[in-house]
Amino acid sequence: MSDHALTTVVSGFYSELNEKLNFKTRVNSQDLPERINKLIEKLSEETMKRYYGSGIVVPENIKGARILDIGCGSGSLVFILANLVGPKGYVVGIDVCPSQISIAQQESDKQAAAWGYDKPNFEFHVANAERLLDLGFEPFDVIVSNGVFCLIPDKEKAFKATGDLLKPGGQFYINDVYTDREQPEELKSNEKLWSLGTTGSMVWSDLKDIAVKNGFTVPYLTQAAPVDIKNEEYKKLLNNAKYTCAAWRLFKLPPGAKRGPATVTYLGTIEDYEETFPWDVDLMFMKGQPVNVDAELATILAFTTFKKNFDIKDYNGTVTTKRNQDPFKRMADLANEGRAPEPIYSVE
Ligand SMILES: C[S@@+](CC[C@H](N)C(=O)[O-])C[C@H]1O[C@@H](n2cnc3c(N)ncnc32)[C@H](O)[C@@H]1O
Repeated sequence: MSDHALTTVVSGFYSELNEKLNFKTRVNSQDLPERINKLIEKLSEETMKRYYGSGIVVPENIKGARILDIGCGSGSLVFILANLVGPKGYVVGIDVCPSQISIAQQESDKQAAAWGYDKPNFEFHVANAERLLDLGFEPFDVIVSNGVFCLIPDKEKAFKATGDLLKPGGQFYINDVYTDREQPEELKSNEKLWSLGTTGSMVWSDLKDIAVKNGFTVPYLTQAAPVDIKNEEYKKLLNNAKYTCAAWRLFKLPPGAKRGPATVTYLGTIEDYEETFPWDVDLMFMKGQPVNVDAELATILAFTTFKKNFDIKDYNGTVTTKRNQDPFKRMADLANEGRAPEPIYSVE
């Protein structure tokens, strides 16, 4: 099937999903701050009926930010972010599926009113992530995407466009489906498997290569939970491949941004994370407690929105900070600790 045909299938699939399949994905609310869980409770019913993300993740420090949500569906994350950026911030959602965008637009005034705004500080467009640059957007401070890149045939194009649209110093917070092995080419024509994010998902370790090639830093894993392939026939077809919904922070550093290793001390100034700030699955910053980080993380902390949240001093020793963590190992570690995450969705 051609790339165009695959995307047409996906668009049709997500426009009819609600009526055809009893398909649900889990918001993963236990990992979110209370303030954000409360916002989720106030999201429009029509939107949440069509929430198909890989578990909501929300970037920090976004007051006043201009944000793009790639593959926003019926608008759940756009609405949450619109509240968090405040009236001076702005959120743009794009999705290739016209009926999802139409639900989002239909719910916009009501949702803006629920946030106490006279008019929406957000907008929606029908657009293909592979052709984002055609829309002529001004660059964004932050870009998010939840459960979408696994459905995009030409990921290279979508990553390139994302990198071009992100301001230097900006964060791309991607939450998506990944697999543990190459997907059989011939299965890509199985419309249901593709549309449910399996056969189009990247092998998790390939994310680093495509990210770096397109000007991002090496990803930091912030969250991983399983996708449950329940259907035995699919399990066999998929060669028992495993799938995970995993979230990663990627940054686009300003040109020339570079510094050496550092001792960084979190100041406790990120809203919702006043005592501890989870950077990724390995590193938890504690307010007032110095941590040595390697040159790459020191550079990110010094040249992005996080610079105001840390005291940063040169460190002359050798230190290696973990990144590009294996989400399947993360899930296995959690299971060993008796904290196995629940599946985000299942394929039945
Ligand atoms: C699994 S749903 C997630 C929707 C939304 N992010 C949410 O959390 O509810 C995937 C979405 O990606 C959209 N999508 C798939 N391919 C796309 C593309 N090439 N460009 C833009 N959106 C796309 C689909 O139409 C669908 O709405």
